[in-house]
Amino acid sequence: MRYSSLDMKVLITGANGMVARSAREYCESIGDEVHALARAELNIADADAVRQTIERLRPDAILNCAAFTDVDGAEAQVEACYAANVAGVRNLARSAAEYDARFVTISTDYVFSGEKARLYTEDDVPEPKGVYAVSKYEGELAAAEANPAAVVVRSGWIYGRGGTNFLSVMPRLLGEGKAIKAISDSYGTPTYAADLARRMRELAEREFTGVIHVTNAGDGTSYSGFAKKLAELGGFDPELIEEVSGETLKRPAPRPKSSRLGSVRQVKSLGALPGWEDALKRFLATANMR
Ligand SMILES: NC(=O)c1ccc[n+]([C@@H]2O[C@H](COP(=O)([O-])OP(=O)(O)OC[C@H]3O[C@@H](n4cnc5c(N)ncnc54)[C@H](OP(=O)(O)O)[C@@H]3O)[C@@H](O)[C@H]2O)c1
Repeated sequence: MRYSSLDMKVLITGANGMVARSAREYCESIGDEVHALARAELNIADADAVRQTIERLRPDAILNCAAFTDVDGAEAQVEACYAANVAGVRNLARSAAEYDARFVTISTDYVFSGEKARLYTEDDVPEPKGVYAVSKYEGELAAAEANPAAVVVRSGWIYGRGGTNFLSVMPRLLGEGKAIKAISDSYGTPTYAADLARRMRELAEREFTGVIHVTNAGDGTSYSGFAKKLAELGGFDPELIEEVSGETLKRPAPRPKSSRLGSVRQVKSLGALPGWEDALKRFLATANMR
């Protein structure tokens, strides 16, 4: 289905990543001229390379899907994390402003402390904890400073085809009859990469600037809630799911206990994304994992 009205020349960064692949698929499906560059073709931390690429391609829009995303690894690889998540975002934002391209970049629900019982909206004040979370927040600030027209899409608990994170591989594991441990005391708003990618592309052609929260609709769930819904929808054995507390995992980086996102910022003619359970059904249908 087409949700956008203009054909655009779109530059997608971090092209081998999960969201980037969905963005490429969606943009190509609506007839955009897509230039999807993997890290080997464009390292966003390299300011000269970014500038030259944007000068050469002259895209109408840049969808930044590149990032250092290893939350635990970031604790030991601070420099690499900041190079992509702060300098990289700044480089793209600056060159986008210089060459008059729309700039849409992704941030994270991890910018919040996780203590709020209700959904975090764009009006809540970030309080990131851990190297990855702080770098993503600094990336948000760098984008706004370098390019006042930048769009920062905060999302969370993203899953999709080709993804290697827990939410993305859960259907395969359950389909293979493997037992999984799913955290029952950590909450987020799941987001299907295909829906997020479509919304990023829509934002690229709207008159909109600043931060917006984008997730599938609903009040979210826990990892074990997600796993149980998956088992129900996919016909997997729910006995394979062991509920554990996040504290038992002893991971290097802190995580927010509840980073569920809601949005108070409306964009003209854009409604909410479909609910997360509907999105999960579509993911299962396309993933063909059983
Ligand atoms: N997954 C989630 O649940 C989640 C939640 C909230 C926000 N986000 C945000 O969503 C965005 C997309 O995440 P994702 O899940 O699609 O991540 P992903 O699958 O890990 O993809 C990120 C891509 O960025 C590339 N990259 C890293 N450093 C780069 C650099 N300096 N220059 C160019 N490319 C670089 C990576 O390449 P290599 O493989 O070569 O490193 C990788 O292909 C990120 O901004 C992330 O912070 C994700």
